[in-house]
Amino acid sequence: MHSAHMPSPTLLPRAQSRNSTEGEFELTSQTTVSTHPALLQPALRLQERLRAATGLVLPLTVDDDGSRDQGRGIRFDLDTELEPEAFDLQVTPATVRVSASEARGGHWAMQTLLQLFPPAIHRHSPARGMRWAAPATHVRDAPRFGWRGAMLDVVRHFTPAREVRRFIDLLAMHRLNTLHLHLTDDQGWRIAIDRYPLLTEIGGWRPESQVGATHGSPGDGRPHGGFYTQDDIREIVSYAADRGVTVIPEIELPGHAQAAVAAYPHLGVGQNAPAAPWTKWGINPAVFNAEETTIDFLTNVLDEVIDLFPSEYVCIGGDECPKVQWREDPRTQERMRELGLHDEEQLQSWFIGRIAEHLRSRGKKPLGWDEILEGGLVPGASVLSWRGRVGALAAARAGHDVVACPEDTVYLDYRESALPTEPIPVGTVTTLETVYSFDPVPAELDAAEARHVLGGQANLWTEHIDSARGLDYRAFPRLCAVAEALWTDGERDFDEFEPRLIEHLARLDAAGVEYRHPDGPRPWQQRPGVEGRPSSVEESAAHLAAITANIG
Ligand code: ACM
Repeated sequence: MHSAHMPSPTLLPRAQSRNSTEGEFELTSQTTVSTHPALLQPALRLQERLRAATGLVLPLTVDDDGSRDQGRGIRFDLDTELEPEAFDLQVTPATVRVSASEARGGHWAMQTLLQLFPPAIHRHSPARGMRWAAPATHVRDAPRFGWRGAMLDVVRHFTPAREVRRFIDLLAMHRLNTLHLHLTDDQGWRIAIDRYPLLTEIGGWRPESQVGATHGSPGDGRPHGGFYTQDDIREIVSYAADRGVTVIPEIELPGHAQAAVAAYPHLGVGQNAPAAPWTKWGINPAVFNAEETTIDFLTNVLDEVIDLFPSEYVCIGGDECPKVQWREDPRTQERMRELGLHDEEQLQSWFIGRIAEHLRSRGKKPLGWDEILEGGLVPGASVLSWRGRVGALAAARAGHDVVACPEDTVYLDYRESALPTEPIPVGTVTTLETVYSFDPVPAELDAAEARHVLGGQANLWTEHIDSARGLDYRAFPRLCAVAEALWTDGERDFDEFEPRLIEHLARLDAAGVEYRHPDGPRPWQQRPGVEGRPSSVEESAAHLAAITANIG
């Protein structure tokens, strides 16, 4: 072995501070792990990972003061001086020392330590004949933002719980700490609600799906669906928490409501309730009506959701709510007069306000897409800014917290190149380099306003992602770029990032991730698109201009 001359592995996300020293730490069957009780979860995750990839079963002991640490192992210590999520990782030839003030810092130190070992450390079964050594290194690190996430749309195509857990593993591997689950929409209702069983019995299944992104695309004739039981949800939430990831639920309202209205027609507007969830993609006129009984229904649903998700935030959607049904319905117009509301935008704001008030009364912070800025922003609501940076600017200036997820930068369902071999396209071409340029804080904000930007997230809508393979292809490696954009402070340069990413692909290979190769889709990943799609960068730009023209 000439490992002393091997280049030291690079880190992704890049560390704020890293110093290399002489020698390396080698894992052997004699290595021990000990931890302060507060850092037990990261220590357990390390023990599991090492056992899976190396076959070494390292003994783990727990104590407050390091008295059980035998001086030749890996030690997780509590250091209450460190910021939340920050860590100190010191690798010497004799020992590994992790310090953090809470479990999350311990998780991110643990993930960083794994990157110092050979990439096979990410395998799920032991790699034989390996020497498991990490170069002596001192890393001190902390994230730039506290909200580093991804939204997964489990509605358009249902993502089974096991695949959600795998996705959580991949978020944690990249030190991403938030999974936003989009649980309800026109095309399905994916969370069992005890009080309203038809939401999933009727709303969880649909007869077929549109193939292709354009109007008039045919249906595929294939029924599909699924939903999470409340036990599934509890398992997902605790699995995530044990890896440093918070799961945020989203229940969409007042639009994107067809699945709920199909299940319980009295929630809809007028007499022509749809019989099933929608089989098309796009924006649907079916919205909730504004009756007190509907508000009661939604607050009852949210009460069950709140009992399942310990997150500080609950997302209530608010995006893409067409006003046509409300405008044309005499009863809704009468209701608006009763409530003293002058237009349908005010009705939307009233609706969001009622639901937000309920969340606050239950100790939760309401979160909505940037349309909740229209018709007057509800007090205390935080905003997911997706239509460019307009929402982020307006919300931060009005003193509201913001999570940036601009569609032209971090919508990972959008394709990565204009090659005809890419899967069915939506939106614009969003290259790895574009994604890497993501900065959640608009340059126009002053320092006080910028403090309202909590961070950012990538969004993965699944109209055209019907499998874990498709999800891997869209999410990776672009999500690696998002992770670094949200973690690493200071100057970032794509030319410096790219070789580190190429090195990182070996870790994704070991973890079994079917990412899109930077040279383009592999033959088995090529899914020719359908007619009528935007097929060039120019057409994509025109498409985006048409969307942003509607922001108003
Ligand atoms: C969205 O993309 N409709 C939030």
